[in-house]
Amino acid sequence: MMNKNAKIFIAGHEGMSGAALVRSLKTAGFNYLVTRSSSQLVLTNQSEVRKFFLQEKPEYVFLAPVKEGGILANINYPAELIYMNLQAQTNIIHFACEAKVKRLLFLGSSCIYPKFCLQPMREEALLTGLLEPTNEAYAIAKIVGIKMCQAYNKQYNTNFISVVPTNIYGPHDNFDLKTSHVIPGLIRKFYQAKIERKKEVLIWGSGASRREFLFVDDFADACLFLMNNYNQSEIINAGYGKDISIRELALIIKDVTEFDGELIFDDTKPDGMPHKLLDTNKMNKLGWYAKTDLKKGLIKTYAWFKEI
Ligand SMILES: NC(=O)c1ccc[n+]([C@@H]2O[C@H](COP(=O)([O-])OP(=O)(O)OC[C@H]3O[C@@H](n4cnc5c(N)ncnc54)[C@H](OP(=O)(O)O)[C@@H]3O)[C@@H](O)[C@H]2O)c1
Repeated sequence: MMNKNAKIFIAGHEGMSGAALVRSLKTAGFNYLVTRSSSQLVLTNQSEVRKFFLQEKPEYVFLAPVKEGGILANINYPAELIYMNLQAQTNIIHFACEAKVKRLLFLGSSCIYPKFCLQPMREEALLTGLLEPTNEAYAIAKIVGIKMCQAYNKQYNTNFISVVPTNIYGPHDNFDLKTSHVIPGLIRKFYQAKIERKKEVLIWGSGASRREFLFVDDFADACLFLMNNYNQSEIINAGYGKDISIRELALIIKDVTEFDGELIFDDTKPDGMPHKLLDTNKMNKLGWYAKTDLKKGLIKTYAWFKEI
């Protein structure tokens, strides 16, 4: 269990998950939080990260920084993605070990599982098949992070754990239409259509594919839960436990944003994988379940988006 006075470093605290982790930790009474913006501490810079860990000596580390940017970044900037993510996480894991950090939580991603993985995706499926080629660079960096934590645990007896979250959404998400994921992208589209009094919103694909979404505050809660209750090297999934079709999701967002026009599904555009859902049995057996239903999470996300 983390002591309430423990010194905790949240790497990537200005991102969606990092900001939620700070909120959750503060609410739970942890006040000795250490944060650095990307301009104060460049995580890809080895000597800066080394100096930071030797000076600050945090006891616990949440490793949440990431370079990402949706499918376009995956296709156009794979070199940047693999370099930035590998470099930043490698520096943090290595110097966390040197600084004798008590526990570190590495944040993976469900794209580490094979493209044709049996659904729902179980932890054992890791490295059992080829990855989806469009996000291979990002997924490989994540797999290296997981394997690096396991290697350090073996050789240096560290306590570095890895969680594999499903798609996350919520306040501080990226709402830029060029690089956003499906939920913030749809929220922005519906909002703009409402403001511009458009009669319809065009959505890529048939709407039939099914995806799983976890509200970011629930994800932060899962991370705290794992930091306190899980100490195995094997990865563990964190998901909502249920999936939804993109059509149903779009209808909820239409409702939440109060857009009163039509939805047009462009089925000439690709749907991607028909189905993607994490198996959350392992986490549920430990006693953790997501609390926020999709509509409630979307209402909170939309409220935050309208303020920015
Ligand atoms: N979002 C999802 O649906 C999802 C799904 C599965 C897994 N995950 C994982 O969950 C974690 C958090 O994701 P997120 O979507 O919450 O992140 P995010 O909102 O994109 O935020 C990432 C943060 O990392 C910082 N960062 C990136 N590179 C950095 C560097 N070199 N030095 C310092 N800071 C750097 C960014 O700062 P700047 O903006 O200042 O660069 C930003 O504040 C990641 O490991 C991600 O892979 C996310």
